[in-house]
Amino acid sequence: EKDGYDWFMRKEIFEQPRAIADSLLGRHDDSGKLQLDEIRMSEDELRDVDKIIITACGTAFYAGLVAKYAIEHWTRIPCEVELAHEFRYRDPILTRDTLVVAISQSGETADTLMAIRHAREQRAKVLAICNTNGSTIPRESDAVIYTHAGPEIGVASTKGFMTQLIACYLLGLYLAQVRGTRFGDEIASVVDELAGLPAKVEQVLGQADQIYALAQDLQDARSVLFLGRHAGFPVALEGALKLKELAYIHAEGFAAGELKHGPIALIEEGLPVFCVVPPPGRDLLHDKMISGMQEVRARGARMIVLAEEGDDAVDDYADVIFRLPKASTLLQPVAAVVPLQLFACELATLMGHDVDQPRNLAKSVTVE
Ligand code: M6R
Repeated sequence: EKDGYDWFMRKEIFEQPRAIADSLLGRHDDSGKLQLDEIRMSEDELRDVDKIIITACGTAFYAGLVAKYAIEHWTRIPCEVELAHEFRYRDPILTRDTLVVAISQSGETADTLMAIRHAREQRAKVLAICNTNGSTIPRESDAVIYTHAGPEIGVASTKGFMTQLIACYLLGLYLAQVRGTRFGDEIASVVDELAGLPAKVEQVLGQADQIYALAQDLQDARSVLFLGRHAGFPVALEGALKLKELAYIHAEGFAAGELKHGPIALIEEGLPVFCVVPPPGRDLLHDKMISGMQEVRARGARMIVLAEEGDDAVDDYADVIFRLPKASTLLQPVAAVVPLQLFACELATLMGHDVDQPRNLAKSVTVE
């Protein structure tokens, strides 16, 4: 059932174009109008929402971090993202007009479940984004957007994360559509971009062999850093988590702007540093990222750069470059995470670890 792949994880990484397409299916029409009837909240209720709190754990939490950038930009509704176990125990401010979005692949994560129970007790509305039909979290929520990744067997989440991103984008765009924000005119073009994502992910998967060669070169790494900005910051966190989980090596993701506030002290000769470069041309994000990279390179790090095709500003600061297809800043994580998934899978394989069942981890964490 691994379809010729050595691991479920690798198979699931390669299933992502299909998983994205399935998660979009039937949720928009050709004109870019979104249909999310499954939300089961009236348009009036959706218009009344004055705060969104996204809660989740692990990789699902990182999908939530990406969602915050998109949802706030598109809807102008304040959006917080919080780890479920922290949210539950800090007496968060919740009202009837708060929409709590719980993201969970399994739908059984105890920390996330406790968070939504608490939210509902406080009369907030709870919307689940979940991959498992009929699991506990959607059953206990007011509404659910199912992701259609298909069963995810590998303990490390890949297509689960990918489809969580898609569901979050759909939710943000739907809220913008219902509420008629000033972003309204652009919804159709983002929907169009979403529809083109499976082909873009396919394009990145086509570079798998180069990524595997890099893993071969970095087999002896004891520590790896990941840098990103804006929506690329959660991608950096996710790249680091994948390495911790699978290769059992120290890995950390940083917001690139934070470097000079401390982490740059970690940089030493030969340290592998992955850089997720935002697409050029938006605000000053891209240029700020490049200047951060310049600082890191100057201290001898080994620079592995993920940058958009045609972005030659990175050339001078890269030892290895993976090219990402053109995308808007908010949607770039979809393509950018793929090389990081492939890298972790391959490195762990080369190190002789069990990729599908890493030590000390379970697929769904049903205790708090
Ligand atoms: O099933 P969930 O999405 O609620 O799981 C949340 C985390 O436990 C999960 O994403 C975990 O971090 C994965 N092992 C990451 O690969």
